[in-house]
Amino acid sequence: MSVVEKAIQKLRSEKVAAGEAPTAPPHSAPEASAVREPATVPVTGAARATGAAITLDRAALRAAGLMPPEEEYSLIARQYRAIKHPLIAPAIGRGVPRAPKGYLIMIASAMPGEGKSFTALNLALSLSVEKDIRVLLVDADVAKPQLSRELGLAKAPGLLDALRDTSIDVEALIHPSDVPTLSFLPAGSGAEEATELLSSARMQQIANSLGQRDAQRIVVFDSPPLLQTTESLALARIAGQIVVVVRAESTPQPVLLDALKTLGNHPAISLVLNQSEHGGTSGYYYGYGGERTAPPGA
Ligand SMILES: Nc1ncnc2c1ncn2[C@@H]1O[C@H](COP(=O)(O)OP(=O)(O)OP(=O)(O)O)[C@@H](O)[C@H]1O
Ligand SMILES: [Mg+2]
Repeated sequence: MSVVEKAIQKLRSEKVAAGEAPTAPPHSAPEASAVREPATVPVTGAARATGAAITLDRAALRAAGLMPPEEEYSLIARQYRAIKHPLIAPAIGRGVPRAPKGYLIMIASAMPGEGKSFTALNLALSLSVEKDIRVLLVDADVAKPQLSRELGLAKAPGLLDALRDTSIDVEALIHPSDVPTLSFLPAGSGAEEATELLSSARMQQIANSLGQRDAQRIVVFDSPPLLQTTESLALARIAGQIVVVVRAESTPQPVLLDALKTLGNHPAISLVLNQSEHGGTSGYYYGYGGERTAPPGA
């Protein structure tokens, strides 16, 4: 049994012992609704990113450790297919009711270096090949904006700037990419007050508008480690789905349990066992709190 399975089992038994109902399966969240939250912007169909277009330089991204080596590409692509499918359904309401804010997917982990940025980028790429889905990858690891840096947008205005300056339309800071269905919002500058900005009503408003502007958009947030920052908890509060990346054979179970406890009773948490010796280099997917535990390809 992996660290993830043991952690899920322990949390479930703790909930039962405490007399709490185990977390509901995310796909059947009782408050699931087919209607997105109201936003303060008019619905205009597919939003148009207006930042300068970027090219995803695969060789550079591989060299930076953000994409798998070419020889592992097909294995990783298969694993990400298995990881993305349970996330898509509640995000866009494909076959199940749309989960509240299910289109806002946060990629989290307990500790640094577990594979959040790798997962965020490769999941976004995998989602972008889906029919009728557009993906916005957001660098919300504002203190350590690796994706922004590697995509050549370290100094570009981004999320933090839009949070601070209410006159900025966040859509204007989004960069389309050479993958037509994938765009990118950089972290922006001024991370000193990041927790306050990410916890603000303005963040709620921006997050809602990102979904409201384009009904086919899924937003993937890269984020800082749960146990080392307070920004990540602010992000968790706005996310409709949270994917916790767990580095296999590295993250101790108590650490993972502490991280999951910081997320409280969030209704849609899933776990990805990353870099497992037993399954190739990338993810095994586990739903937490329902009957969603399933390995890729199952
Ligand atoms: N599935 C994977 N296959 C191969 N290498 C991976 C995989 N996931 C992560 N890595 C490698 O592990 C290292 C850490 O990954 P990554 O930078 O994505 O972690 P992180 O959680 O974003 O870290 P931080 O919290 O510091 O931002 C990188 O060198 C990355 O290349
Ligand atoms: Mg990272």
